[in-house]
Amino acid sequence: MSKYNSPHFLGFTAQGDEKTNNEVDLREVFDFATGTPGKTKYIRGPTDRDYNVLVGQNQWPDPNVVGTDFQDTIMEYMSCMRDVYRGVLTLLESALGLPRNSLLELDSPSTQHRLKLVKYFPTRTSYGPTGSQGVGAHQDETGWLTFVNEVDKPGLQVHMRNGTEWLEVPIGKNGWGLNVGKAFERATCSLIHATLHRVQSPPANSTPRHSIVFFAGLPLEQSYTSLQAIFAQSKILMAMKHRDDNLSSTEYLQELGKLVVGEGADDTFGSSQLSMWQRSYNTKPRAANATG
Ligand SMILES: [Fe+2]
Repeated sequence: MSKYNSPHFLGFTAQGDEKTNNEVDLREVFDFATGTPGKTKYIRGPTDRDYNVLVGQNQWPDPNVVGTDFQDTIMEYMSCMRDVYRGVLTLLESALGLPRNSLLELDSPSTQHRLKLVKYFPTRTSYGPTGSQGVGAHQDETGWLTFVNEVDKPGLQVHMRNGTEWLEVPIGKNGWGLNVGKAFERATCSLIHATLHRVQSPPANSTPRHSIVFFAGLPLEQSYTSLQAIFAQSKILMAMKHRDDNLSSTEYLQELGKLVVGEGADDTFGSSQLSMWQRSYNTKPRAANATG
C-alpha cells in the first residue's frame, strides 16, 4: 500500500522515503482522504482536468493487523473534523467581517479533505546532520487550513516571524493546533501568512511521537482568483493592508488585481495540489519532499 503505487497519492510512506531540506525526516506516514468514489479504479472522464486524478480510493492497511473497525474509524474521524473545520470557517467569517456563508460555501460533501497519521521516531544520530528531524522546516505548501492533534507528546515548533527563534507549540491530546497553509496565504494576498513549522524528533531511546493531521481542502476547481475576491470583501484585511502599506481600499484593490493577473499556471487549488504531489513523489520517487 505504498503511496508510490497510488495515482491519488494516498497510502503509506516509509521512514527514509521523505526528505525536507535535504535531510531525512524520521517519520512514517499514512495518508487517507475523503470524497473517494468507492473502490473503483480511476478512469479519466472526457471533461476531467489533470487534478481530478487526486480523487480516488484509499489504500487501507490489513484489517487483521489494524482491526476491522479501522476504516470506519478513520472515515468517521474525518467526518467529525470536517464539522470542526466548518465551525472554524464560520468563526473566520465573523472575525474577518466577511459575508455570512462566503467561506462555508467553499465546503461541500464532495470536497476532498486529507488525513495523515504520522509516527515520529526517536532521534537517531546516524540519520542526517542532526538526526532529530521529525519533519524539516516547511510551510504547508498548498495547504488551506491544517488541524494538528498531538496524540501523546509535543514536538511541533513554529518559527517566529521576526527572528530566528523556534517556539514549541504544546497542543495536547485534547485539542488541535490550527495552521495556515500557502493556499490561504495566497487567497488573502499574503495578508495572512503561512506558518513556517517543523517537528523535532523525540529524544533518543524514548518512545515515538504520534500525531493526527487533518488537511482541510477546497474544491479542486476553486480558482485563486475567486478566493481573493472573497477575501477582498473583508474590511479587517483592508484595514491591515492600509496599515501595512498605507494604501486606500481602492489602491488595495488595484494591487489585488495585479496579484490576481500575475499568478502563474497553478490557477486552481486542484492544479496547485497536483503539481505539489507530483514534485514530491514523481520527480524524486525515493526522496520525496515532505508534504505535511
Ligand atoms: Fe506541515
